Amino acid sequence: MTQQAFAIAIDGPVASGKGTIAKLLAEKLHGFHMNTGAMYRALTLYCLENNIDLHNSHAVIAALSSLTFSLDNGVYMNAKEVTEEIKKREVTQAVPIVAAIAGVREKMVKRQRAIGLEKIAQGEIVLVDARDAATKIFPDAALKIFLTASLEVRARRRFAQVKSGESYEQILEDTEKRDYQDTHRVSVPLVSDPQKHGYLVIDNSSLSEDDTIALILKKIEEIYDRD
Ligand code: C5P
Repeated sequence: MTQQAFAIAIDGPVASGKGTIAKLLAEKLHGFHMNTGAMYRALTLYCLENNIDLHNSHAVIAALSSLTFSLDNGVYMNAKEVTEEIKKREVTQAVPIVAAIAGVREKMVKRQRAIGLEKIAQGEIVLVDARDAATKIFPDAALKIFLTASLEVRARRRFAQVKSGESYEQILEDTEKRDYQDTHRVSVPLVSDPQKHGYLVIDNSSLSEDDTIALILKKIEEIYDRD
């Protein structure tokens, strides 16, 4: 198996369970959960806090150049922990604007691949939790998973997670809006035909977390057996 074979790409729309599944798999496999959304969120938080116009791509890209990120035991931006702050509704709503900037994506993908390769070099299996893990960050991943679920199931899950007092209807609307933004942006949209891109598509609308994990572990075992 090549070094890159240790990356497992997990892509999918908002609230498809990617984060939870990637985290649980990382625990089971003693691997590294690379939460790429956290990096886009941290950059967005920085822009909001520093009054940087999100529609000014030059300013956002310049801001990114001044930032460092660490995803070890929490999310750190310039060594300051932002794990909880980046989950705020203002950040969640604004992050697709930042993530749509081509120059931002280009730099993020490079940094994410570098972080992943460093972990792989240290002997870790890297669970890349993203929307472009298999298409951009690790096209050479050993396994490419596209995790999805119906819009309603995803909104219900977010409703149960988010403790900001938002109604289910608000969350459903936000989720639909984010789906639209993520699949229609000009720069690296979330794929709408994952099978064609070589993904194993898992619709987990009616699967438990344990079922989903078991399915993915079985696939990983098949890959290891084959090599
Ligand atoms: O995964 P999470 O929901 O935290 O990601 C926040 C946002 O960051 C997404 O809605 C998407 O706009 C953007 N994102 C992205 N590419 C990634 C990860 C996240 O565009 N690899």
